[in-house]
Amino acid sequence: MDTKPGFGLLGTGLVAPFHAKSLINSKKAKLIAAVDIDPKRLKAFCEEYDCRAYATLEEMLGDDRISVVNVLTPNHLHFDAVMACAAAGKHVLVEKPPAMSLKDTDIMIRACRDHGVKFGVSLQCRVRKAVQAVKRAIDSGRFGRLLHADAFMKWYRSPDYYHSDAWRSSRRFGAGVTIQHAFHYIDLLYYLAGSVKSVQAQMSNLAHPDVRLEDTLLAFLEFSNGARGVVEASTAFWPGTELRIEINGTDGNAIIVGERIETWKFKDEQPEDETIRNIGSAEILTGASGPADFAYFDHQAVIEDMVEAIQMQREPIIAVPLARGTLEIALAMYKSARENSVIYLPLENESNIWDE
Ligand SMILES: NC(=O)c1ccc[n+]([C@@H]2O[C@H](COP(=O)([O-])OP(=O)(O)OC[C@H]3O[C@@H](n4cnc5c(N)ncnc54)[C@H](O)[C@@H]3O)[C@@H](O)[C@H]2O)c1
Repeated sequence: MDTKPGFGLLGTGLVAPFHAKSLINSKKAKLIAAVDIDPKRLKAFCEEYDCRAYATLEEMLGDDRISVVNVLTPNHLHFDAVMACAAAGKHVLVEKPPAMSLKDTDIMIRACRDHGVKFGVSLQCRVRKAVQAVKRAIDSGRFGRLLHADAFMKWYRSPDYYHSDAWRSSRRFGAGVTIQHAFHYIDLLYYLAGSVKSVQAQMSNLAHPDVRLEDTLLAFLEFSNGARGVVEASTAFWPGTELRIEINGTDGNAIIVGERIETWKFKDEQPEDETIRNIGSAEILTGASGPADFAYFDHQAVIEDMVEAIQMQREPIIAVPLARGTLEIALAMYKSARENSVIYLPLENESNIWDE
């Protein structure tokens, strides 16, 4: 008997093929169906990935073969979709950011808990081998006292990218380099260096004058453990270079470039260090030059973890409550840039963050 949990995809746009390929190539899960408001896109997608097309989420939620819904709609639509899935008793894997506000995120977390469904988020960079190696080294104290945790994302997105759909150029719908692209790397800093005490950010539009969004973020972070950090993130820098994450402690230094460990130096050299230095490959792309320039393996790991979480009755490794802090930092960045001030967390009053 086939016991693989069935998945349904809500949204068949740019990120959906990464989910579909993950499911089709997985021995642990299977793709059952998809929904999109664009019937032509939906038909082409379902033909390509051999799954059932549903015209609405409500219809798909009625399909008993589906245990999990992956919410792949634009950012401002996540909330309603997650609430509907939870009410229908489906587990949910939502794309990042989970929602546009902490208030909505907390409501979704409660709803999933009350309905007894798992609630994970596709912050798939966390599962990369290089990131996991750094995380283990931090948790075991190999860095000594953490001094700096920095992310540099100097990417490029063409003007066409911003005009490919209305939501991609609308603040209220969740566009902008901070919430949309840098979110993954703000998340990595939060995951690796921990909670944040204060945030100071500047946002500008350097190379996309026909959209009213920030394409560049410069932020300074003070972590609760006393470490500092910088986030430089942009989609203005043609042709785009690979992401860099740099961690400095009193006893160690690690640099990740793309998926690869570029620098791995510790005062207490360990036998496994030589293997760790070989993690990653320069050939694996991580999205620097175009929105579809990345591999699906990380999404597959997140999806298969969701399957295991259901089967083992545990939380997903990237459960939404564990990523709430990332959203809080990103929102604080917007508030800081708007008010030209240092924002201390917890974030109070998120009401006007998305105002034009
Ligand atoms: N994890 C990652 O690396 C990654 C990468 C890209 C995008 N994303 C996230 O994935 C989500 C989708 O991004 P995208 O780039 O695929 O967007 P997209 O615009 O390419 O696709 C969204 C799809 O949703 C459909 N849609 C809109 N409203 C709908 C509704 N009410 N019901 C059903 N379908 C609806 C649209 O027609 C479109 O096909 C966003 O949250 C984004 O942040 C994550």
